[in-house]
Amino acid sequence: MSKEKGTYYITTPIYYPSSNLHIGHTYCTVMADAMARFKRAQGYDVRFQTGTDEHGQKIQTIAEKEGVSPIEYVDKIVADTKELWKTMEISYDDFIRTTEDRHVKRVQDIFMQMYKKGDIYKGKYEGLYCTPCESFWTESQLVDGKCPDCGRPVEKASEDAYFFEISKYQDRLLDLFKNNPEFLQPESRRNEMISFLEQGLEDLCISRTSFDWGIPVPLDESHVIYVWLDALTNYITTLGYPDDPAEYEKYWPVDVHLVGKEIVRFHTIIWPAMLMSIDQPLPKKVLGHGWLLLEGGKMSKSKGNVVDPRILIERYGVDALKYFLLREYTFGQDGVYTNEVMLKRMNYDLANDLGNLLSRTVSMIEKYNGGIVPDAVEPEEPEAKALDDDLKATATGAIDKVEERMEDFKFNLALESIWVAVRRANKYIDETMPWILAKNEEDKPRLDTVLHNLAESLRIVSVLISPFMPTTSTKMRKQLGLWYADPEWDDAREFMMMSGEEVKKGEALFPRLDIDKELEELDQISGAEKNIPLKLKDEITYDDFDKLDLRVGTIVSAEKHPKADKLLVFQVKMDTETRQVISGVAEYFKPEDCVGKKVVVVANLAPRKLRGMESKGMLLFADDALNGKNGLAFVTAEADDGNPVT
Ligand code: MSP
Repeated sequence: MSKEKGTYYITTPIYYPSSNLHIGHTYCTVMADAMARFKRAQGYDVRFQTGTDEHGQKIQTIAEKEGVSPIEYVDKIVADTKELWKTMEISYDDFIRTTEDRHVKRVQDIFMQMYKKGDIYKGKYEGLYCTPCESFWTESQLVDGKCPDCGRPVEKASEDAYFFEISKYQDRLLDLFKNNPEFLQPESRRNEMISFLEQGLEDLCISRTSFDWGIPVPLDESHVIYVWLDALTNYITTLGYPDDPAEYEKYWPVDVHLVGKEIVRFHTIIWPAMLMSIDQPLPKKVLGHGWLLLEGGKMSKSKGNVVDPRILIERYGVDALKYFLLREYTFGQDGVYTNEVMLKRMNYDLANDLGNLLSRTVSMIEKYNGGIVPDAVEPEEPEAKALDDDLKATATGAIDKVEERMEDFKFNLALESIWVAVRRANKYIDETMPWILAKNEEDKPRLDTVLHNLAESLRIVSVLISPFMPTTSTKMRKQLGLWYADPEWDDAREFMMMSGEEVKKGEALFPRLDIDKELEELDQISGAEKNIPLKLKDEITYDDFDKLDLRVGTIVSAEKHPKADKLLVFQVKMDTETRQVISGVAEYFKPEDCVGKKVVVVANLAPRKLRGMESKGMLLFADDALNGKNGLAFVTAEADDGNPVT
């Protein structure tokens, strides 16, 4: 390429193939794809990588539940993922599966380098162990103090494990954040990481023996390597590090790791520490993007409320979905997904603004000039000249804004600057009224100029949207008679390039949607999808249930347990009786926020001692453990204390 600008390496996270990917993963991948295409268009030698993170206990457990081997399980999901990216026209250069040999052997190499450096030592991993499930749990993962998988008691246990002495790198990591503000964006995440580091780093357990779906530790094959250590190295194992370094030398350090905000810590602390350990350069930039939320909170497969991109693509097309994702949300912030917001974007921006501009322009060129793009003349009349100059300046000026905004990953604003040109051109039609000009033979030169200018504006738009909506760009160019040439990025700086092209009206770029009808149909589809039976504990009889005596109570006081960080000690009033109940919710509530709240009490549960204090009964909470355990909510009831709950 003549305008070679150097290399540009961009990555997405490698996704867990635990279930089919949803719109959240699609959002991240679509952003990375748009950036990769944009940089290629600018003349960079781009390497864009994505993939799947296939090891670990979670995958092993799911596969076991499904009665298949882990590799059989992930093969299916990976096939679906690749199919999805193909449909979405994701232009990745490499797709890494962490089960591939090229990765496995290099992860082991990297582990050994860290070991030889003296950064890995053998120690004891301590936790709560469920013997039948062979699983370690933390206290907060337990359900009623029991194994969350099988409900059996757990016991304190420890296993041999390897640890990464990450604390060695604490100061260098702090320097990295402090001296290099560009390293992590957005800014708010940077501050979070700095305060995390300032609290001090604990050494990281990087091997397990309690399951075997992972990469064996080379010096001790009864251990498998911790899945995050395995996963993070993907960014360099695919480049041939350490044994075949040609690509590595070309593309490393990476320009951007694009990741969701929840895994920023892994990418800006653990990963750089690993690279420090093996004496390799650090990533240039990590960008943490926000989440797509639903009105009710985060999407989660287990809640059955994920938005399936496949359904949206089938109904509205790949480019409409890409446009919506890139245009609607502000990079770095969370955004709420609703069908209505999406449909409105598609109708207003795509069908009305862009689709109409193209179809009106092509129709008029066909009708008034036999389908041939006419030449333009500079208007003499000052008013017409001012109008044309404004149109040209808006169209040719868009490229600088797109470039500037893309540098900061502001996809929404980059697209908006293209749409400023689209809307300007639509307005130009209303202002110049070609159908009136067409009535007078002496206005033909002006009519030609107007048609030429509209075609030119559209040509520029077709170049500018090509990284974001490549297929739409191609469709536009076909209708504009530009099928013979691929869009060249810098051509968006020039006006008056077209002459004599033969336009040809095609299908509407984006059909107008009947929003009410679409909303109804989408609701029906997701309603049908949503009806997935929950995974429940064993069924109980009515008699079992009837044994429970549930009562309404009010928390009259709450304080921290003097001997256990996780426990809160409540005094709960139930009519005539006030009693002490202890719950493991100190992580989620401040004691003072609990006082005065209504709760449901399991009132006839046998009393037990928790760290020396008696607890009589249990409080019911709505647990949101799947979403990061910070969404616990009181179950409230508008009822008098002491009343039964039946
Ligand atoms: N396997 C790890 C990543 C290892 S990278 C070395 C992992 N996988 S994941 O399947 O959970 O994917 C997480 C990423 O998917 C997020 O960081 C984000 O990029 C994307 N998203 C998943 N759900 C999302 C939303 N609801 N909204 C936006 N992005 C989301 O973590």
